[in-house]
Amino acid sequence: MRTAAAIFPYLAFDPRSRVPFYKQIYDGYREAILAGRLRRGQRLPSTRALAAELKISRLPVLNAFEQLLHEGYLEGKAGAGTFVRDSIPDELSKPLVVKDGRTKVRRIAAAAFVSEGIGPFRVSLPALDRFPREIWGRLVARHGKRLPIELMAYGDPAGHAPLREAIASYVRAARAVNCEAAQVLIVSGSQMALQLCALALLKPGDSVFIEDPGYPGARDALQVSGAKVIPVQVDSEGIDVARIASQRKRARVAYVTPSHQYPLGVSMTASRRLELLDWARRTQSWILEDDYDSEYRYASRPLGALQGMDTSDRVIYIGTFSKVLFPALRVGYMIIPPDLVGSFVRLRESLDIFSPTLYQLVLTDFLNEGHFARHLRRMRSVYHGRRDAMVHSLEKHLGSTLEPYNTDAGLHLSGFLPRGIEDREVVRRAAQAGVVATALSSCYAGEHRRSGLILGFGGASERRIQAAASMLARVIESLRFR
Ligand SMILES: Cc1ncc(COP(=O)(O)O)c(C=O)c1O
Repeated sequence: MRTAAAIFPYLAFDPRSRVPFYKQIYDGYREAILAGRLRRGQRLPSTRALAAELKISRLPVLNAFEQLLHEGYLEGKAGAGTFVRDSIPDELSKPLVVKDGRTKVRRIAAAAFVSEGIGPFRVSLPALDRFPREIWGRLVARHGKRLPIELMAYGDPAGHAPLREAIASYVRAARAVNCEAAQVLIVSGSQMALQLCALALLKPGDSVFIEDPGYPGARDALQVSGAKVIPVQVDSEGIDVARIASQRKRARVAYVTPSHQYPLGVSMTASRRLELLDWARRTQSWILEDDYDSEYRYASRPLGALQGMDTSDRVIYIGTFSKVLFPALRVGYMIIPPDLVGSFVRLRESLDIFSPTLYQLVLTDFLNEGHFARHLRRMRSVYHGRRDAMVHSLEKHLGSTLEPYNTDAGLHLSGFLPRGIEDREVVRRAAQAGVVATALSSCYAGEHRRSGLILGFGGASERRIQAAASMLARVIESLRFR
């Protein structure tokens, strides 16, 4: 039973009108039901509460409700209250017709959200099954119960100051980012950070270099400004900076994932990093560094952020809690060069003012009380195990059919498929079997697309990874020998 809270629907009630009170209430509710403002199964306020709200006696309210019950718009459920009837007779539920003959009730054909679920190989999923939900829940309850009233008002568009402090110390220590808390801007995930960069730094007709293959989310976000994206090939050292430097058309921005290139997993070499920084300095361009999952490395030592090597303030650093905690949190952050902070904060304020305070408070405690560091430590060994399970199962079931590329970091790996096997077809068939792979070809923006698969290993247990690899092998074999 849907028991939506009994909120008072808007009633055009006028105590000075000559229309009787009961009739105003009856008409108001009937119209709200027919127009869909009150939905089937929705609970109504009690007659007593409604009378108090309207500052009238209860009698006209009782009369109006009785009439609506009698006509079949409402139904009473013993002990539970009065509800909009689940099955309103057809002749009653016809849309209202306005004077010009058009219907008042428009059926909205919204694009339905189709979740890709949390099946094995889904990219971008951390180990949600290992998240310390009890600790998190305790912190949410702590702040939810005792939210000081001043924190219920509008907050700082740059973010809750103690959270900015905590993030600044984390990225300085863990990522060798060079920053002060005043440069930290809290946003709703990296996606908002990328959109802000597009709006702040690009205008229609400008060009922006992106990695090819690259992260489709970045491509989409950067295009909101009307800028043109120029795909630049990625090789075993990262984005090809010589190509960027030799372009005749000047671009104002380059978007890169230097720690763990998405999707190929390459770490940008030190010499490439220096070349890219040099290009940005010479041409007064901006580098957007998306450091989305750098926390996890398995064999080699983590590389510091590109931002920490920048001596000319040309790098905008973007981090997110989507991979280290969970994506539904929707908290990310940017480290902005000092001269740009003011304009980014104003722009962020113009979009959605600020991020929800409650989760900023919870996250601050999660970081400052050591839960975050402990979680990261635990997750490193969990992901190491899942990565090994993935590599071994792919080797066992797929051998040279899908050789994973760069398996040293992050929560996913990529591999190329043999000629003639179309990745989208593999993905389609695997999805039917509950395995959620991503087609590598969907990450290319240039002409030259390669067929391959991007496989996430963060979100599934070792056992499920092994089973999914065997299923994937069967799908690929069935296409191979058609
Ligand atoms: C390259 C890259 N950047 C950023 C993100 C995370 O985005 P958000 O912080 O908006 O959840 C992802 C997630 O899949 C990603 O793959």
